[in-house]
Amino acid sequence: MATSCWFTFLAALSVISIGVRAVPAPRTLTARQNAVTPLPSAEIVAFKPYTWYASTAYCEPSSTKAWNCGENCNANPTFKPVESGGVVNETQNWYVGYDPTLNEVIVGLSPGDLPFIIDLEVILVPLDAELFPGVDPNVLVHAGFAATQNRHVPPWLSAPGVIAAVKEALSLYPTENVTVVGHSLGEFSLAVIAVLCPHLPLGTGAATALLHAVYLPLHLPSDVNVRYIGYASPRVGNQAWANYVDSLHISTTRINNKEDPVPVLPPIEVFGYHHASGEVRIRDDDIWVSCPGQDNPSDQCSTGAVNFLNSNATQHPGPYDGVTMQC
Ligand SMILES: *[C@@H]1O[C@H](CO)[C@@H](O)[C@H](O)[C@H]1NC(C)=O
Ligand SMILES: *[C@@H]1O[C@H](CO)[C@@H](O)[C@H](O)[C@H]1NC(C)=O
Ligand SMILES: *[C@@H]1O[C@H](CO)[C@@H](O)[C@H](O)[C@H]1NC(C)=O
Repeated sequence: MATSCWFTFLAALSVISIGVRAVPAPRTLTARQNAVTPLPSAEIVAFKPYTWYASTAYCEPSSTKAWNCGENCNANPTFKPVESGGVVNETQNWYVGYDPTLNEVIVGLSPGDLPFIIDLEVILVPLDAELFPGVDPNVLVHAGFAATQNRHVPPWLSAPGVIAAVKEALSLYPTENVTVVGHSLGEFSLAVIAVLCPHLPLGTGAATALLHAVYLPLHLPSDVNVRYIGYASPRVGNQAWANYVDSLHISTTRINNKEDPVPVLPPIEVFGYHHASGEVRIRDDDIWVSCPGQDNPSDQCSTGAVNFLNSNATQHPGPYDGVTMQC
């Protein structure tokens, strides 16, 4: 059911994209800087706890607060939860806590809820000036992702709740490092997907996780290091946004699985969306490769490899090194 919705949606998308797919993405990096290399196995292993943390965000807030959510929680057994929020099936869930093994504060963001976020929000809007003080107004992001992060009415208060919990975690535990994780797309949606696929479980985990990773340092002491590890993130903003993210002193990694269509949406050509740097892609042969630059055009990387004909939405939840995103 969901899969056929995906294909209908992708078919619609390809109709809009037709004729522009042939236009190559602008290449601002030299071939050497763009070189795709296999990831050392030690780095793949090091991602594993974060993969479980991203999957954990699918669990209900009561179970992440108590850290009794089953397989996902058991995979990171030393975690000390600080606070969880969100209303199941109504808004984005999140949790914040401390991992003594990694000596880091972890922020997990779940998918949002479809009925509230589906509409014509694919348009690009400036960042909220209160959450992102001093950011160039030419930096534009997806209206739906921005709204999900910054609802000013309950129960959408995820941004202030997350920042208060991060401050509390930093005061309770001896670390200055914060890693924000999440999986999935959000409703990059066109009207077509809302009409054709009203029950498709889209999420905003990875997209709003990136927004959180960018805004958190603006509200935390300068000695705090914020890092972002997102799974299957769609494009979040425009070229100025991608450049802005790359200019910040935050480490950003997007891990993408095979022919998952989400990382290549919304299309560059139609809506002017671009990814910041930091893709890691799992190839069809299960080799993990590092794809430097923004939207690396190599056929080993999502932007170069995934198109309407070969995209495979069943690969969206993973598995990522054996972890499938679900509670
Ligand atoms: C959330 O929605 C799912 C799917 O419709 C349903 O199975 C589940 O019971 C709902 N959970 C709550 C707490 O309402
Ligand atoms: C904290 O983050 C910084 C910068 O990313 C890194 O160099 C350092 O090793 C991290 N510290 C710990 C304890 O992980
Ligand atoms: C889509 O992905 C699934 C899961 O990896 C795989 O089993 C299936 O063969 C793929 N479909 C195609 C057409 O490649």
